[in-house]
Amino acid sequence: MSTSEEKERNVAGGEQRTEGSSWRFLVPVIAFFAGFLVFLCIGWGIFPKILYSEKQQPIDFNHQLHVDEMGDCEACHYFREDGSFSGIPKSENCIECHESAMGEHPEEAKLIDQYIEPGKEIPWLSYARQPDCVFFSHAAHVRMAGLDCMTCHGPIGESEHTRPYQYNRLTKYSRDIWGWNIAGIKTNTWDRMKMDDCAECHEENGTNQACFVCHK
Ligand code: HEC
Ligand code: HEC
Ligand code: HEC
Ligand code: HEC
Ligand code: HEC
Repeated sequence: MSTSEEKERNVAGGEQRTEGSSWRFLVPVIAFFAGFLVFLCIGWGIFPKILYSEKQQPIDFNHQLHVDEMGDCEACHYFREDGSFSGIPKSENCIECHESAMGEHPEEAKLIDQYIEPGKEIPWLSYARQPDCVFFSHAAHVRMAGLDCMTCHGPIGESEHTRPYQYNRLTKYSRDIWGWNIAGIKTNTWDRMKMDDCAECHEENGTNQACFVCHK
């Protein structure tokens, strides 16, 4: 074998080696991104679906229509003499108009047949409901601090349909408290209402931060 022939073989072999190793270098990179994508789908798509369960409200309630009809929120959500907040109205608040059918809407028929005629309460699900250990007063926030309902609840008062109520299967927390974004990112004041969200606004307003203020 001449030395020049040997040299050529070596060069060819060397080229082969570099081609092979650059391909071998790509395999883990591709595997990394493929794995990353799979877990991204699980984390952002599948995990929240497994974590949250969904219930429909008993009746599809149209806020927009009723606010136009009655003029304001206080017609249904008002403060009683003692300063306590009425919350979600009882079915007796609906009777004055819905004792008998006004229109032909199937949701109105359901309201009358299932709740008004048998004299039953409508089992509404409260999106904002906090765990029992939390003390909250609407009077302090609406009457004293002058806050708008939307700051904490979002545009529910302008909605035409009730959205499904979602809750965490493990903690039983409403999704409105735990937050809609899995990563905890908040774009509106009402996207989340956990302990630190209450505390954030209290901090800005110089409200007492002691535990017993919110936990009686
Ligand atoms: C001041 C009168 C008034 C009161 C009080 C009232 N409603 Fe209505 N409601 C209306 C009118 C008007 C309509 C439209 C009727 C139509 O044309 O079909 C309506 C329609 C409805 C419908 C049919 C859905 C739709 O989009 O048309 C439902 C369901 C309903 N109301 C639920 C309730 C519930 C629940 C309450 C009590 C919390 C209530 N309403 C209290 C006036 C009232
Ligand atoms: C005709 C009565 C009526 C009027 C007027 C009315 N609401 Fe309601 N509201 C209801 C009923 C019934 C529910 C329960 C069903 C639902 O969640 O939509 C409710 C639920 C809510 C909730 C959800 C609370 C929770 O924790 O689930 C908010 C927030 C709210 N109303 C805000 C408003 C605002 C703001 C206005 C005025 C712009 C208003 N409402 C006017 C009857 C009324
Ligand atoms: C500072 C935040 C904040 C503001 C402002 C606020 N809310 Fe609430 N709201 C809450 C919280 C928190 C709850 C849950 C209370 C609980 O679980 O005891 C709630 C609960 C409710 C409920 C459900 C109560 C029930 O019976 O289960 C209704 C209805 C409601 N709010 C309507 C309103 C309306 C109407 C306004 C404006 C007049 C308003 N809220 C302003 C934070 C707020
Ligand atoms: C957007 C601002 C804001 C948010 C959000 C908020 N608060 Fe407040 N809160 C206030 C202000 C302002 C006061 C002081 C009101 C006053 O006494 O004038 C207050 C006062 C209170 C008080 C004292 C009431 C009293 O009897 O003196 C309690 C309890 C309270 N908040 C609980 C909560 C809880 C629980 C949450 C979360 C679910 C919350 N707040 C969310 C602004 C906020
Ligand atoms: C501004 C009101 C506020 C103050 C002040 C506050 N908390 Fe909370 N806390 C809440 C709210 C609202 C929740 C429910 C939502 C959540 O879990 O974030 C909660 C939940 C909790 C929980 C979890 C309970 C459960 O069942 O999940 C613990 C434990 C707790 N708080 C302890 C404390 C301690 C200790 C302090 C004092 C250092 C404190 N909190 C001060 C509002 C408050």
